[in-house]
Amino acid sequence: MSNTNRRDFLGMSFAAVAAVGGAASLVGMKQAWDPLPSVLAAGFTTVDLASIGLVPGEPQTFKWRGKPIFILEKTAEMAAYDGDLVLGDKRYTVAIGLCTHLGCIPAWKKDVWKCACHGGEFDATGKQTFGPPPKPLVTPPFSVNGTVLTLGEEGAESKAMMAARA
Ligand code: FES
Repeated sequence: MSNTNRRDFLGMSFAAVAAVGGAASLVGMKQAWDPLPSVLAAGFTTVDLASIGLVPGEPQTFKWRGKPIFILEKTAEMAAYDGDLVLGDKRYTVAIGLCTHLGCIPAWKKDVWKCACHGGEFDATGKQTFGPPPKPLVTPPFSVNGTVLTLGEEGAESKAMMAARA
């Protein structure tokens, strides 16, 4: 092999190794930047209101992104509110279960969420009715498909509820 041919061969070999190395780094960078499947899945929580055995007047608590989410099917005696989620003839309260005073988790006691930390209270719609909480319980972003709520995916229903509570 002449010196010129050897130089060409070494140059092409270096280019090939560099190209493979570059491609491998791009794959590595993409894997590093893409969220893990578990992270993606953690961003959304689906709740099918038709299959969780909700009893009117008895809220259930779900977890979304580490936060408690209160879902209450309202009874006929509970006042209707613009901030309710209305599906068919049923009305629901859907709210992040953290007191808007300092973030404790209120407990449901006889038609009222009571916060043990400083005595704050929220009615069945999530509106503050007593004590230091400065505003209603916060509506989480969610979308509705039939009876299925997808928490973490903002839809028209949650936007309307947030606007009513603002
Ligand atoms: Fe709930 Fe203070 S944190 S009343």
